[in-house]
Amino acid sequence: MSIEASAAESNACAYTEMERTAPHRGISMMKCGAHAVRHFHRRNEMSATISRRHALQAAGWAATALFTTTAAAQQQRRITVEDIMGPYYPIQRPLDEDADLTRVDGQPGVAQGTRIDLHGRVVDTLGQPVAGAWIEMWQANTHGRYAHATDANEAAPLDPAFQGFGRQETDAEGRFRFLTIVPGAYPIGTGPDQLRTPHIHFDIRGQHDRLVTQIYFSGEPLNDSDLLYQALSAEDRETVTLLPRSVGEDEPLEAEWTVVLATG
Ligand SMILES: [Fe+2]
Repeated sequence: MSIEASAAESNACAYTEMERTAPHRGISMMKCGAHAVRHFHRRNEMSATISRRHALQAAGWAATALFTTTAAAQQQRRITVEDIMGPYYPIQRPLDEDADLTRVDGQPGVAQGTRIDLHGRVVDTLGQPVAGAWIEMWQANTHGRYAHATDANEAAPLDPAFQGFGRQETDAEGRFRFLTIVPGAYPIGTGPDQLRTPHIHFDIRGQHDRLVTQIYFSGEPLNDSDLLYQALSAEDRETVTLLPRSVGEDEPLEAEWTVVLATG
């Protein structure tokens, strides 16, 4: 029997009236006999089917909404802006290239300047960690001098205890950590008193992406006149501007950075 036929038949039955006036289905079934039982079951099956359909639809909508919301939140991760490599990547990498730039193997003493514990994670735009990414960093010392043959800033001294270059692989959670010093500003040849604001260079090789960039320090006055920093949009600056904080006397400053690669 079709659903339509069953519905027509049921209209002639006292069951229908009983159900309208006394909608308790147990009573209706007893009063209306086998047809009512069939109809009741058919109605219940339909109702259950519709309920299941509604539940599935609702679950689907909820899942879609959750996915959309989550995806939207995840998609909010802005890709870390790239920048030029600059002229001071080491011609020859140092023998000591570990993550502690404040000491050099075989060299007495520690690097001059303000130490900074620089740590963070490498993730993709969905926030998933990029494990096994190789991070290289290089920078000027506290006086604004690179240990590089082409650095003409000879007015600034070299620091034999400063490593100047470090290299590290991210762990399973995409984490990395370097101990270094806050670099000094240094003059560039674009004009009198033109200085590069303190910055650190990075070359990051993920599983799929390579990112060459530079990080900066919030509150540094020279940021306002730095040609490369000023060339970045406000949104892009946020991806490479760190806020160092003091965590205690005689402790290094601490700064956190999340590197976002396009695909990881
Ligand atoms: Fe530089």
